[in-house]
Amino acid sequence: MNELSVPRPNNLDAFWMPFTDNRYFKSNPRLLARAEGMSYFTPDGREILDGTAGLWCCNAGHGRREITEAIQRQAAVMDFAPTFQLGHPIAFEAAARVAEMTPDGLDRVFFTNSGSESADTALKIALAYHKARGESSRVRLIGRERGYHGVGFGGMSVGGIGPNRKQFGALLPYVDHLPHTHGLKENLFAKGQPEHGANLADALENLVALHGAETIAAVMVEPVAGSTGVLVPPKGYLERLRAICDKYGILLIFDEVITGFGRLGTPFGAERLGVTPDIMTMAKGLTNAAVPMGAVAVRNGIYDTIVNASPAGIELFHGYTYSGHPLAAAAAIATLDLHRREDLPGRARAMEPYWQEAAHSLRGLPNVIDIRDYGLIAGIELAPRPGKPTQRGMDVFRRCFDAGVLVRVTGDIVALSPPLIVEKPHVDRIFGTLSDAIRAEAA
Ligand SMILES: Cc1ncc(COP(=O)(O)O)c(C=O)c1O
Repeated sequence: MNELSVPRPNNLDAFWMPFTDNRYFKSNPRLLARAEGMSYFTPDGREILDGTAGLWCCNAGHGRREITEAIQRQAAVMDFAPTFQLGHPIAFEAAARVAEMTPDGLDRVFFTNSGSESADTALKIALAYHKARGESSRVRLIGRERGYHGVGFGGMSVGGIGPNRKQFGALLPYVDHLPHTHGLKENLFAKGQPEHGANLADALENLVALHGAETIAAVMVEPVAGSTGVLVPPKGYLERLRAICDKYGILLIFDEVITGFGRLGTPFGAERLGVTPDIMTMAKGLTNAAVPMGAVAVRNGIYDTIVNASPAGIELFHGYTYSGHPLAAAAAIATLDLHRREDLPGRARAMEPYWQEAAHSLRGLPNVIDIRDYGLIAGIELAPRPGKPTQRGMDVFRRCFDAGVLVRVTGDIVALSPPLIVEKPHVDRIFGTLSDAIRAEAA
């Protein structure tokens, strides 16, 4: 594309940007105008290597022709049709394709438009399931400190990131949190899953003792917590959480919004980590982010219980105008075709050892206090500047961007999650640029 044909805004005022320092951005804008393969391009044509797959979502790389053409074809055939009391074939096909990819037995798929909607949908399904079984007292939802489940009231309440909650009042009642799994000194600079901390799952026993199992509907955790700075579950932790949930009839929900679609070298985190949840949320990589779409996969028995317990008529009073949107369904099918044809999880798995070594090569740089990795994810934690948390992270982010590499920072943690088509020279460039930025910032 001719760079000159890229539109440039002459007014940045109207767009209230999400999760952004609007005042800073609007006086120092960084705009992306085009994307292809592993790269973004700025309006003046400068290439920015994508170290984050957008926001953990363009797993197959950018501008994939197969996906774009599928969306174009579908837009020309049927732009929209309701899925309330009506259906269109492509939505059913997309659901069947998702069900082929999810772990056996999680074959019923509810469509949403985002990770946040998936989180809230999963929580509502958990509550509806217990009610359908005649256990209406199970209304309590358990999340985890530092968990991120989006920004709806359910996900925000069950989530455990202070700044995301504090502006918004009382949130949902009957919510409690497990401790996060991070911070054990023995786990610093662990490669892959850390050795220590499985026992942190036992905190669920404490919550059962405190509230009574008969009040607890579900526990929701990310298999690997991403947005909060890459927290990899200690070996044995998720297994123990699963066992305690089973012991007390509590549903286990995995928020696979970032761990799904090959990020950990398997279709979902569940396979890689060897633990199957009862409900699984997803979004992002489902359509390679080309059209917004999320989904919730549930154990078949959960669907059957809710549907069969209901008198004739609507069984679950929940849904979105765009659940199963034809363009999103087309994008999802094309994306899942690409996953299969190009074995994207396999590519991630093959690249993981090189990625891991490259990430850990940053050990010893100034202010680097921890490095974590799993699948094609890495987190590099920097010591905050005294009295000025988050500033070092932002400085490193800006230096990387100006040097042509997109990284993501959450506080003072640099989080990396490239498209799964990443190759060794890209890996070298991502960590080389990051290393220069960390050194330059400390100088
Ligand atoms: C684990 C997890 N859940 C939910 C969400 C929210 O997704 P969305 O921004 O699409 O609402 C995210 C977004 O990063 C996420 O990482």
